[in-house]
Amino acid sequence: MGNLKTHTIEDLWQSEGLVKLRQDLRSGQKPSECKICWDEEAAGVKSYRQDYLNGRIEEKPIDYSTDHPTAPQTLDLKLSNLCNLRCRICGPVASSLWLKESLKQKLNSNLETNQEYYLSNKITDHGSNRETFIKWLPHLSHVEMFGGEPLLSRENREIEEIIITQGFASKISLLYNTNITTFRNDMVERWKLFKKVTLSLSLDDIDGRIEYERSPAKWDVIRRNVLKYSKIQCSKIKVVLFCSVSNQNVWYLPEYLEWVVLNAPNLEVSFNFVHSAPEFCITNLPRKIKIALRRKFESWTFDCSPHYQNDILRQRLLNVLDFAESRSDIPEVWKKFKESMAHFDEIRGQNFALTFPEFYKLISAREGSNVDRIEFEVGR
Ligand SMILES: C[S@@+](CC[C@H](N)C(=O)[O-])C[C@H]1O[C@@H](n2cnc3c(N)ncnc32)[C@H](O)[C@@H]1O
Ligand code: SF4
Repeated sequence: MGNLKTHTIEDLWQSEGLVKLRQDLRSGQKPSECKICWDEEAAGVKSYRQDYLNGRIEEKPIDYSTDHPTAPQTLDLKLSNLCNLRCRICGPVASSLWLKESLKQKLNSNLETNQEYYLSNKITDHGSNRETFIKWLPHLSHVEMFGGEPLLSRENREIEEIIITQGFASKISLLYNTNITTFRNDMVERWKLFKKVTLSLSLDDIDGRIEYERSPAKWDVIRRNVLKYSKIQCSKIKVVLFCSVSNQNVWYLPEYLEWVVLNAPNLEVSFNFVHSAPEFCITNLPRKIKIALRRKFESWTFDCSPHYQNDILRQRLLNVLDFAESRSDIPEVWKKFKESMAHFDEIRGQNFALTFPEFYKLISAREGSNVDRIEFEVGR
C-alpha cells in the first residue's frame, strides 16, 4: 500500500495497491489483506469489518464503481509509534519503547537500518499533505487514530486541530484506542467539539497480570483511569473496553469480566483476537488446554452479576471458545509462545509462572513436567 514516509497521502489514496483492493472487493473476492476479518467471520465471530458496518449509514454517497474516488470518507491513521509501553503482544513497529528494547538487545538486525522509518509520520511535514487533508475534509465523516499510544502523539493532536480550525469537527467522528495510561480533562473538553468520539480502552486483564502483559504499566494507574473514563458524562463521548484475547490472558477472562461488571458495569466489552503474532493466537493452544478452558468457562458462575446477566457473559466466553476451536493448533507455534515468554521474562525480570500460577500449572501438568517448576523449559 505504500508509506507516508515516502509518498504523499494523495499518492497513497490513488496507489496501485489501493486500486487493486477496490477492484478485488468489488468483484466479490476476499483479498488476503483482509484475512483477519474473513477468518473471524468463518469462525462465527463478529469481525472488525462487521462491527464497523453495524448500523452505519453512509452520510455522503459513495461511488463504488470508480477505481479513483476523489476522497476517502474514513481514514485510519497510524502517524507515530511513540509509546510508553511494550506490551508482549505488540512490537517495535507500533511501540517506540519496544523499538528501544529491541535495538538494545539486538533482537532484529533490520531495525538498525530501518529505525527512522518507524518513529514519526507527521503528515503535514510533506508540502502538499496539509492541503490534501483540508481538501478531503468535506468528504470525511470518520477518522481513526492509532499509534503508538495515540493520546501521546503530537501528530494526532495536529490532525484534531486542523479539523477544528477548518470548522469540520461537528461533522466528523473520531476513534482512539488507548492504553489507558493517560487521562486529561483538556482532551475530554476538546473531544466534545466533535460529532462523536469513541474511546476504546485497551484493557486486556487486571492486577499483576496486566502489569506483566503491558509492561511497564501500573495497574493502579490503569484502574483509576478506567474509572475516570467510565464516568465521563457526555452523550458525544462513547467509552468501551477493548480486550485483546491471547494465550496470555484467555484463561483469566471470567475473572476479567467479573471485575468489569463490579467496577465499570456501564462499559461494553469487545474482544479482539490476536492474529498477527501466531504464537499468541488462541487457536494455537494445545487441544488439551482448549478442553480445560471449555470446562472452566462452562462451569463458571458469575456471582457478581444479577442472574439475567450470567447468560450474556457466558455467551461471550463461549464465542471465545468457538474461535479457539475453529482451527487445530500448530505445536511448533505453541512452543514459540513458551520460548517467547521465557526469553522476555529473562530480559525484563518478569516471571510467567508466578504471574499466571493456575494457567502455568495447567500447562506444565498437561505436558507432563514438574508442576512446581517456576520456569518454562525453553525449547521443549
Ligand atoms: C497497537 S495498539 C495502539 C493503540 C494503543 N497504544 C493501545 O494499546 O490501545 C491498538 C490495539 O491493538 C492491540 N494489539 C497490540 N498488538 C496486537 C496484535 N499483535 N494483534 C492484535 N491486536 C494487537 C492493542 O491491545 C490495542 O488494543
Ligand atoms: S500500548 Fe499499544 S502501541 Fe504501545 S506497546 Fe501496547 S499495544 Fe503496542
